[in-house]
Amino acid sequence: MRLVLRGGRLLDGAGDRGVHDLYVRDGVIEGLDLGGAVDQEVDAEGRLVTPAFLDLHVHLRDPGQEVKEDLASGLAAAAAGGYGTVVSMANTDPVVDDPGIVADLVARAARVAGARLRPAAAISKGLRGEELTDMAALRAAGAVMVTDDGVPVADSRLFRSACEYAAELGLVVQTHSEEPSLRDGGVMHEGAVSQRLGLPGNPDAAEAVMIFRDGEVARLTGARVHLAHVSSRRGLEVATWLKASGAPVTVEVTPQHLTLTDESLAGFDPVYKVAPPLRTADDVAALRAALAGGAVDSIGTDHAPHTLAEKQQDMLSAPFGIANLEVAFPLLYTRLVAAGELPLERLLWLLQDGPARVMGWPAPRLDPGAPADVTVLDLETERAVEGARFRSKAKHTPWEGEPLKGWPVATLVAGRAVHLAG
Ligand code: DOR
Repeated sequence: MRLVLRGGRLLDGAGDRGVHDLYVRDGVIEGLDLGGAVDQEVDAEGRLVTPAFLDLHVHLRDPGQEVKEDLASGLAAAAAGGYGTVVSMANTDPVVDDPGIVADLVARAARVAGARLRPAAAISKGLRGEELTDMAALRAAGAVMVTDDGVPVADSRLFRSACEYAAELGLVVQTHSEEPSLRDGGVMHEGAVSQRLGLPGNPDAAEAVMIFRDGEVARLTGARVHLAHVSSRRGLEVATWLKASGAPVTVEVTPQHLTLTDESLAGFDPVYKVAPPLRTADDVAALRAALAGGAVDSIGTDHAPHTLAEKQQDMLSAPFGIANLEVAFPLLYTRLVAAGELPLERLLWLLQDGPARVMGWPAPRLDPGAPADVTVLDLETERAVEGARFRSKAKHTPWEGEPLKGWPVATLVAGRAVHLAG
């Protein structure tokens, strides 16, 4: 199988390579401007051709909650968002705490046309925070990360043991850093807005306290700890201090925490209900300011699909989560890059080299011999977000109707076009 991406501008972490035809053969990049017969041709003229994105944080709900999402819909949504590889979270039903479940996910994902799946497995059995999973067996079955994401690991001794095993096995530990008793029953950020609305708040202190605990245990054990969805100025400041003082932690931020504030909750619409919660404009400014420097290592979506019926409950009952795989890049491109706040190269780094480095994977490149995981972006055409067009089963979105640029028009995974717009 030979394919050409014709006439796009090539950009990867090694730099801007100018306008070329990019040839792909049998799953890997073959070279530039080679000519000769091809089985498929994709027009990339006027478009940007760049390594497909990596997302270390998606909820695909498979097994057990396929009414929300499944491997086919989730991996197709990822590809439509320009992602070539995603790490699925373990808070499924049953929980991914057994090597058989990991092996089954890997086997089934290989038959799906979409992004590559690299499953995470749980830290604790059933995410109950009581007993560790068999991480060696989970890793042998294909797990690349351990995480109880969705719930914090409250017991510090258990978290320490988890980090000791993970360090030994070379597994990345991803956290859900919210101190449970401070988070309590909060459904939104605790502050002036929660007070005005009369909704139970979840303070930024819950995040800052837990990031400190998680980071110090990383330092103690030598485990590589990825601090997921850092949402607050205080949380970011603690994480930045941990990094500066040598703790082996890395930092993730999400599209929602970079673009939305707690004021969004004023209409009591649970589409904005997410954990950790949307914070204040000051927190958003702090996260945005950190993107250009070294404080943030990756942007992960925390794509968290739920059914419309679930999300149409009241603010107290509705589940936490925003489904965003298909808008993440256009949203960040439009709001940050097109608005002149962040260089395009930096945004791409946070979706490509940054997450690869967190995981210890090779930096994604457009070099001959590299896996042909490539995305083609249309940075010019403005189009409004239409949730109804999502491949994800979750079609409700906080950004409905918003005009955005930067839509992924093609995604190749292992040289195969798994997303082609139009
Ligand atoms: O909002 C969230 N939803 N945050 C999480 O950490 C979990 C996720 C989910 O699984 O729905």
